[in-house]
Formats: sequence, C-alpha cells, structure tokens
Amino acid sequence: MGLLVTHLSLADFRNFERLELEPSPTVTVLVGHNAVGKTNTVEALQLLTAGTSFRRPSPRELVREGERSARLDARLEGDGRVIELRCDVTTEPSARRFSRNGKRCQAADMPGDLMSVLFSPDDLSLVKGSARLRRDELDAFGRQANRGYANVLAAYQRSVEQRNRLLRDEYPDPSLLDAWDASVSLGGATLLAARLRMFTRLAEKVSRAYEAIAGGESLSCAYRCTLGEGCEGMGREELRELLLERLAANRPEDLRRQQTCVGPHRDDVTFTVGGRDARTYASQGQQRSVVLALKMAEVELAGEILGSRPVLLLDDVMSELDERRRAAAVEFVGGGIQTLITTTNLGYFSPELLAAAEVVRFGE
Ligand SMILES: Nc1ncnc2c1ncn2[C@@H]1O[C@H](COP(=O)(O)OP(=O)(O)O)[C@@H](O)[C@H]1O
Ligand SMILES: [Mg+2]
Repeated sequence: MGLLVTHLSLADFRNFERLELEPSPTVTVLVGHNAVGKTNTVEALQLLTAGTSFRRPSPRELVREGERSARLDARLEGDGRVIELRCDVTTEPSARRFSRNGKRCQAADMPGDLMSVLFSPDDLSLVKGSARLRRDELDAFGRQANRGYANVLAAYQRSVEQRNRLLRDEYPDPSLLDAWDASVSLGGATLLAARLRMFTRLAEKVSRAYEAIAGGESLSCAYRCTLGEGCEGMGREELRELLLERLAANRPEDLRRQQTCVGPHRDDVTFTVGGRDARTYASQGQQRSVVLALKMAEVELAGEILGSRPVLLLDDVMSELDERRRAAAVEFVGGGIQTLITTTNLGYFSPELLAAAEVVRFGE
C-alpha cells in the first residue's frame, strides 16, 4: 500500500500564517481564486517529499513577508508506520533545515519515503523548450527514485565546472586538463549509466500512456547522447572510455569555446509523434498529451522502483487540457493514487469525481 500524506501543517510559509490540511487518501481538490495559495500548498508538499521545489526559491521567498522563519510539517502514514517530515526555513541565517522523525537530515535525504510527481503549467514547455528542461525533468525524477543520484549529479556538475574554469584560463595546463578529463569522464559515465537505465524503463511507459491518451497515435522517445548512438547498451566502464576519448578529441573545440561540449550535461531527449519530431511539428494538443503521458509514466515507474505509489500533485493543469485529455487525466487519478489537484473552477470535474473527493476551499 505504501505511505500517504495524512496531515500538512504550514506556519508563516509564503502567504499562509497557518494552514492545516488533512488530505484525502484518494483525491483532494483545492479550489479558490488566483493568488490564494494553491500553488504554495503544492510547493510545500514537494519541498517536504522531494527536498526541493520546482520554483527553486530562496529562503526569503519561502518565509511569509515580515517574518523571520517558517515551518512546514507533513505526516506520512501507512504500512503501520508514521513518518514526520519537517522543514524549518530561516532568513537570518538564510537556511533550510530538514528533519525526519525529529532527526536532522540533508535535503538530499528527504526523498525515499514518499515520492511526489508534480504536473504544473510550466511543464507544458517541456516538449518545445530547451534541452535543459528535459534533462532537469529526468534528473528530478532520478533524485527522488534513487538516493545516490543527487550526489552523482552534483559531483559531475562540479567537475564540469572546474574543467570549464580551466578552459577559460589564458594558457590552460594540458596535464591539469588531462586530470579533469579523467574526473569528468568517470562522473559522467556514472551519471549517464544511471540516467539511461531509468530512461529506458520510462520511455516504454511514456509510449504506452500516450497511445491510451491520444487514441492510437504513436509516440516514441529517444535519449540523444552527445557521445553518439548506441550508448543505451553500454556499461559504465565502456561509457567512461568513450567519454574520455571524446573529451580528448574535442579538446581543441572546447578550448576555443571555453566550455565542455560533450557529456551528459549536453544530452537531450526527443519525442517523435506519428513519425515526426514533436519539437518542431507537434500541435499544442499533442504537446500536452506528451507531457501528460510522461507524468503518468513517472507515476508508474516510481511505483515499480519504490514498491509504493507516489503522491500526484496536479497544479492547475485541468484548465490547460481539452476535454479528452482532461478525461484521461481524471481517469488516471481515479486509479486510486493519492492526488492533490488545484483549480480555480470545479466545473472541470465530473460530479462523480467531486462526490468521491475531498474539496477544500481556499480564500473564503
Ligand atoms: N513570502 C511570501 N510572503 C507573503 N506572500 C507571499 C510570499 N510568497 C508568495 N506570496 C503570495 O502568495 C500568492 C500566490 O500564491 P499561489 O499559491 O501561487 O496562488 P494560486 O492560488 O494562484 O496558486 C501571491 O499573492 C504571492 O504574493
Ligand atoms: Mg497557482
């Protein structure tokens, strides 16, 4: 069965002086006008379950204006366990402190109990936006699904930064560059192997979900590796050797551009809808279906990897979907997964869904 969020409590967080929320084990609909704190509530849950928020806020932004500290608490219950997650935010010093059952921990330790999958209007630019958005989406999933992922990613990013710094020197020392090539290729191969393992499982689920949403139209997604084709089948050592080789071959170009141009920090994901590249050709409706399918696939894969279902956070996306896609989303939500949906308009939901859901009105 896994864990459910049974209580969320916020104090001086964003626009809330206090908020106490007891989400339903199934669907909770948060309804209210603009700027009443619906997205803030979703953000709080993401912060507690993932250790990060999609808005990448500073402590000052999280603490209610005029206050110096905020506190966020969530209680998770299930399988005979109770887990208390807490985040204390202070402006002076500017800091976030996490704890789990009263014991201090790092942000990177917060995932692992309960995964959260967020779908917000910002995600609708995933298909046509920059490659960074698609990489970040994969990495955000990886961080939650696998405890070691965040460290591997951070170590790799640090070594790329160091190599780039050296490339910007007037006369970079070749032997120092050799050392950074070794470090980048080791970290890059570890990251790439983890990403590819995850991506392969995700891609197959995205295609299946898309066909269900789009009624027979097909979608395939592929990982575009700066190392070239065929990386999916390689092990970490093979990837490391290949990356090391490519870094050496690309060094003159990297020196000219003063940055590292090969490696997983430059990779991308492509979506092909009905045989055509979605980035160029997909209609707005098709883009929305791709993103919805991706989120559904993440929920499914999270369940497989962690052995329990994640909590689904749907922030104001119903208004962005047309009737058919909304129906697909609602049907998915009806599948028994704990879900928080925010909306300005209850008219998007069927009477059956609303009757079964907990409806919480904000700003009244
Ligand atoms: N640190 C803060 N202190 C006070 N108010 C804040 C803070 N951060 C955000 N807000 C307010 O929260 C509101 C937005 O809340 P949000 O959850 O995005 O609204 P919505 O219900 O439309 O999703 C805005 O009015 C914003 O000014
Ligand atoms: Mg909002």
